[in-house]
Amino acid sequence: MSKQELTIIVKSIIASNTLGEQLEAAQQLSFFYKKLIKHSHSDANETLVSGGIALSSSGAADCVDDYLRTVSFIKGIYKAITKLLTDSTEKNINILYAGCGPFATLILPLLPLFDKGRISAILIDINASSLESVQNFITLIDLEEYDLQLIESNAITYAIPEDFIVDLTISETMDCGLTREPQIAISRNIIKQLSSNAIFIPQEIRIDLAYTFFDYEPYFRKTINEVKGYKELQPYPYKVFVDRLFTINKEHFGRENHNSKIESAFYTLPATFENYPDVCLFTELTIFDDVELKTAESYITNPYCLMSMYGIRDYSEIKLIYDFGEIPKWSYQLQ
Ligand SMILES: C[S@@+](CC[C@H](N)C(=O)[O-])C[C@H]1O[C@@H](n2cnc3c(N)ncnc32)[C@H](O)[C@@H]1O
Repeated sequence: MSKQELTIIVKSIIASNTLGEQLEAAQQLSFFYKKLIKHSHSDANETLVSGGIALSSSGAADCVDDYLRTVSFIKGIYKAITKLLTDSTEKNINILYAGCGPFATLILPLLPLFDKGRISAILIDINASSLESVQNFITLIDLEEYDLQLIESNAITYAIPEDFIVDLTISETMDCGLTREPQIAISRNIIKQLSSNAIFIPQEIRIDLAYTFFDYEPYFRKTINEVKGYKELQPYPYKVFVDRLFTINKEHFGRENHNSKIESAFYTLPATFENYPDVCLFTELTIFDDVELKTAESYITNPYCLMSMYGIRDYSEIKLIYDFGEIPKWSYQLQ
């Protein structure tokens, strides 16, 4: 019964169009997990690695409730798997899921939609208790006949087995403005091991610089019964787009690259800034193909405020520096 119930829910996620349909389908998925796995997940196993903080099992479980994130990733991954399977009707496909959390939310619900003989997957997490939970879930939901390997490892240093040629990688290990979590360090390690035609999800992460009034910007917040994001809020009219700081995709990390800093050019600071005093970063994702996650649709694409121009004097230019060597963070240089 559980597998059937899950299949109905995942189909409703894929078919959802309006915001209401998407929220309802994602809530059903969240209730399904909570009903099935009743014990609480550890909040004591947050792990610090060189590249960022891996969420605790409990923090990772909560991600399922970032509704539009969950729906958009599941839709994009469904599209990617369907494409891979139809592009080559003979071949099996290999999936690597880096940072699966206790529910493996972005892949397990989709499995019943595909032929078990055609998919193999490696699911990695740094937290052993998250993997125990995934194993429990696989048993409860009767997905044991799928070829799934669960591996406790750090995805920033993980070496993909030579006989496992990856067709699709999934990693959602990010926070807003690419701070805190190790998305970029994981992407760099995995992408350099992929063949040129493998798919990496998210396909693209874009970070834009703007001068604005942070408190008036649309911002995703979830209260018990409602989700408020940019769709209910008006865009702030005086926001000034400055530049796209960077675009992270397979090409960005396609070559050997040991640098864990990304620096921007210097940008002119406005002489008067009453209507846009804050230096802010805006994140958007292309998950796969036309499936996107826009600013303020989720926690991971919320705007990020770096500094207020009221706090500085006698400077005319700013340069931004993103450093993901340890806990990913932004800093700036003025001149
Ligand atoms: C934001 S949660 C997402 C969980 C789940 N994939 C989802 O989408 O709902 C990120 C997960 O990645 C794991 N993680 C973060 N950094 C990791 C690393 N360096 N190696 C392995 N797992 C990592 C965390 O432990 C956590 O379970």
